[in-house]
Amino acid sequence: MTLRISNLHAGYGRIEVCRQIALEVGEGEFLALLGANGAGKSTLLGAIAGSVVARGAIELDGRRLDGVNARERARSGLALVPEGRRNLFSPLTVMENMQLGLRLQPAAERARTQDELFAMFPILSTRRSQPAGLLSGGEQQMLALAVALARKPSVLLLDEPSQGLAPLVLQNLVEQIGALRSMGVALLLAEQNHRFAAQLCDRYVVLSSGEIAGGGGGDELQDAEQVAHALMAAA
Ligand SMILES: Nc1ncnc2c1ncn2[C@@H]1O[C@H](COP(=O)(O)OP(=O)(O)OP(=O)(O)O)[C@@H](O)[C@H]1O
Ligand SMILES: [Mg+2]
Repeated sequence: MTLRISNLHAGYGRIEVCRQIALEVGEGEFLALLGANGAGKSTLLGAIAGSVVARGAIELDGRRLDGVNARERARSGLALVPEGRRNLFSPLTVMENMQLGLRLQPAAERARTQDELFAMFPILSTRRSQPAGLLSGGEQQMLALAVALARKPSVLLLDEPSQGLAPLVLQNLVEQIGALRSMGVALLLAEQNHRFAAQLCDRYVVLSSGEIAGGGGGDELQDAEQVAHALMAAA
């Protein structure tokens, strides 16, 4: 499915944080949303998912979603993995968190989806009865991803998954997220870590003070220095 955003404005009360956002992510496409601290990345992802107030058009395969609530957007195929793995409940076990994600699936398909997720993240399988709060940062990020994937989304909104993770763990995560491409999942990846994003994404846009300040294709994204300059120029 294709996610298309046009003329989107979002903010908190009277404060407008994101202005005139236009972007598109197609099936199996990975788009990086790069930007410094406070650029508005999380606000934009929240606006798309329906947790931040916004005006403008949000379309999934031509169907308008901006008029419906977050739950309905999730049912339509959008899934947000919020910053800081905030979709997890730390006292609940890995399994219990996973089951919360599986609720949107028809009952008959839950067991199979769960098996697929444990196959994708074997470490979670070995930790299934541990409270989420006791997992390592990398394991928590995997669980946050798995809980979102449990809904079988067509568009994944992933907010700074690399935050606080060691290089070795990041490499694992690149492979796991990369595997989503062959499933046709469209990815919008908010990141400050452009090197991490470069390993995954086909294109990037730079968000600066709430506006899209530029962007480019995969070739440039591979050139981390160029992207770093674009980010600094936009800051
Ligand atoms: N709940 C809120 N109420 C009011 N202002 C907010 C709220 N959340 C964020 N902001 C403001 O909106 C702006 C953008 O914040 P946002 O969290 O979207 O940036 P970000 O690009 O995700 O930054 P980071 O990389 O640090 O996560 C900031 O100025 C921030 O202070
Ligand atoms: Mg953020």
